[in-house]
Amino acid sequence: MQLPLRIDPAAGMGLQAQVTDQIRQLILDGRLTPGARMPATRQLALDLGVSRNTVMGAFERLAAEGLIEAREPTGTFVAGRIVAEGPALLPLPEATPSVAAERRRRRRLKLRVEGHQVVAPHGPALPFDFWIGRPDARLFPMRHWQALLMRKLRGGARHLCDYGDPQGELALRQAIAAHVGATRGIAAAAQDILVTNGIQEGLNLLAWLLIAPGIEVVVENPCYRGAAQVFRGHGARLRPVAVDHDGLGCAALPTSAALAYVTPSHQYPLGATLSIERRQALLGWAAQAGAYVVEDDYDCDFFYDGTPLPALKSLDRHGHVIYLGTFSKSLGAGLRIGYMVLPTELREPARRAKALLNNCQPWLEQAALAAFITEGGYAEHLRRLRQSYAARRDHLCAGISHGLPGWHCGGGGSGMHLVAHLPPQGPDAEAVEKLARTQGVGVYSIARGNALLWNAGPDHPLRRVLLLGYAALSQTEISEALLRLRQAIGAH
Ligand SMILES: Cc1ncc(COP(=O)(O)O)c(C=O)c1O
Repeated sequence: MQLPLRIDPAAGMGLQAQVTDQIRQLILDGRLTPGARMPATRQLALDLGVSRNTVMGAFERLAAEGLIEAREPTGTFVAGRIVAEGPALLPLPEATPSVAAERRRRRRLKLRVEGHQVVAPHGPALPFDFWIGRPDARLFPMRHWQALLMRKLRGGARHLCDYGDPQGELALRQAIAAHVGATRGIAAAAQDILVTNGIQEGLNLLAWLLIAPGIEVVVENPCYRGAAQVFRGHGARLRPVAVDHDGLGCAALPTSAALAYVTPSHQYPLGATLSIERRQALLGWAAQAGAYVVEDDYDCDFFYDGTPLPALKSLDRHGHVIYLGTFSKSLGAGLRIGYMVLPTELREPARRAKALLNNCQPWLEQAALAAFITEGGYAEHLRRLRQSYAARRDHLCAGISHGLPGWHCGGGGSGMHLVAHLPPQGPDAEAVEKLARTQGVGVYSIARGNALLWNAGPDHPLRRVLLLGYAALSQTEISEALLRLRQAIGAH
């Protein structure tokens, strides 16, 4: 560790006293915390250009004051409990800002936007939590992943020490291009792909590239909060368009909008799949309006009933669609790997923006993931997950229709969550959410489930809709959760 000390030979104060006073100050004002290891006296002397005896003398003094302690044979550490005494240096005089300057500073905050919530709000406090979009960590291919990481690390540290391509590791881009071709019908090459820190970064990159204050952006109503807030944060005027059981109501799309953000595979949060007719209408609208369509395919790896509809991007002949994919649902959100499939004219601007934002994605996980996909491990993992999640979804639907009279499931044809429509009488979604929590069960109304809903008065039917993420709960846990939910509602 290098300490921020400055020795001034012309200060009119002994060198040892300068070292002692400055270290003391670092400890007393908490910049050096209890338990922190002090640098070796030889190294500190070298760094400061003073004799080792000077530093040793300073350490002896500080030890006598109880501020540091030698622990043989490991080294010298800041003492566990600091008793503030002794001649601390006076803090440097700080200019007091004027009221006007303070006001000016506070006005500098540009981004005035609400956040969003992807972390389960109650943490481990809820043993049976249907939080949305969470994969089951117990099904993560841990052994295989560890082996891949070790294999990549055995190749040496070169990639850990260097910056990578801002567009992403070539091997991973090739693997992704092949994967989206085979599973989503998208004809893409490695140069069309940009690897991102999840879809969320893709949304931010797009906002940076395409959104200026006042630009109109179509969002679904209800809509994924994480997307809407990004566009809003860049000054977009949001134009919510209602969704029904066929997805976005494309007849209502305004031609004045520059961009539409959609979740066609599994509408977030209601779960509809955008029909083929609407997909064509949406592309027709984009062509007419000169607009982009942002296709967020966040949980597209899980289609359960029949074959999946190909991605909207696969129908796009004129480069209107920007496709966003992620490994957050199929592997885990902690990996922070997603990708964009970009129209030709956005490739280079997006690559530059990514470089300005964070230079590049971390190398190790990209390299491991590329091998995981190309060697077939990923497809096998998806197959297993799909089986488990389908069984869990069926178990949840059956449990609801047998045990909760008047409740109806929907939106579960794909993805990792479904919606439960509550009966017209009785507590609404928000009330059920609260009751369930008293029994250790997490269920979520639309607003609490990281979605935005516009124009919904107190009697709006979507206020009687609950979101249930089932992927992270085993069938036994789902049964127990439903039992508790029944008790919670019955007790009401
Ligand atoms: C609709 C939707 N889009 C995007 C994301 C964010 O995904 P990522 O982890 O890839 O940033 C989520 C996360 O839950 C989501 O639900």
